[in-house]
Amino acid sequence: MKTYRLIYASTAARPLGPAEFERLLMQARIYNFSEGIGGLLLRAGGQFLEVLEGPEPAVAALYARIAADPRHVAVHTLEAAAVRGPLFRAASLGFAEVEPAALGRLTAYLDPAHRRALLPQGYDEQEIIADLLLEFVELHCPHVLGQPGDGAATYPQRSQYV
Ligand SMILES: Cc1cc2nc3c(=O)[nH]c(=O)nc-3n(C[C@H](O)[C@H](O)[C@H](O)COP(=O)(O)O)c2cc1C
Repeated sequence: MKTYRLIYASTAARPLGPAEFERLLMQARIYNFSEGIGGLLLRAGGQFLEVLEGPEPAVAALYARIAADPRHVAVHTLEAAAVRGPLFRAASLGFAEVEPAALGRLTAYLDPAHRRALLPQGYDEQEIIADLLLEFVELHCPHVLGQPGDGAATYPQRSQYV
C-alpha cells in the first residue's frame, strides 16, 4: 500500500506538564506502532507540528482522533498526500523539542498558500516538502533520523521518499 503523509500544526490549549506530555507521547508511540504509522512530533513551547506517515485509512483515523483532542486547538492541515515512501522510520514516532522561531518558520513555509505562492509553477510540491522537513531535522534534531546500525532506515534518497 502507498504511504500517505499528513502534516498538521496546532497550538496547546493549556500548558502540558512534563509528566502529562510524557504520557501523551508514550501512548501515541504505542498506538502509532500498532497501526504502522511513522512520523515526527515537534514541539516548541505551546506549538506543535506533527508528520504522520502510513497507510491512508490508519492515518486518517488517527488524525480524526487527534483533531478532536481538547488538549490542543487551531489544528490545521498543512499537507495530506499519497507519497512514494516515508521520510521517517516506519511505525516509530520521533519527538523533538525545538526553538519556537524555527518551528514557526517551518510551519509558515509548509503552509499550502505560502508554499504555492513562493514556488514556480510545475515545481514538485512533495519534493520541496521533503527537503524542508529533512533540512529542518538535520539542523535542529538530527537524533530523530536514527543512528547507523540501530535498525532505522538509512538517510533516505530523494527518489525513495518523494
Ligand atoms: C499535539 C498532539 C499530538 C498527538 N499525536 C498523537 C499520535 O501521534 N498518536 C496517537 O495515538 N495519539 C496522539 N495524540 C493523542 C490523541 O489526540 C488522542 O488523545 C489519542 O489518540 C487517544 O484517542 P481517544 O482520546 O479518542 O481515545 C496527540 C495529541 C496531541 C495534543
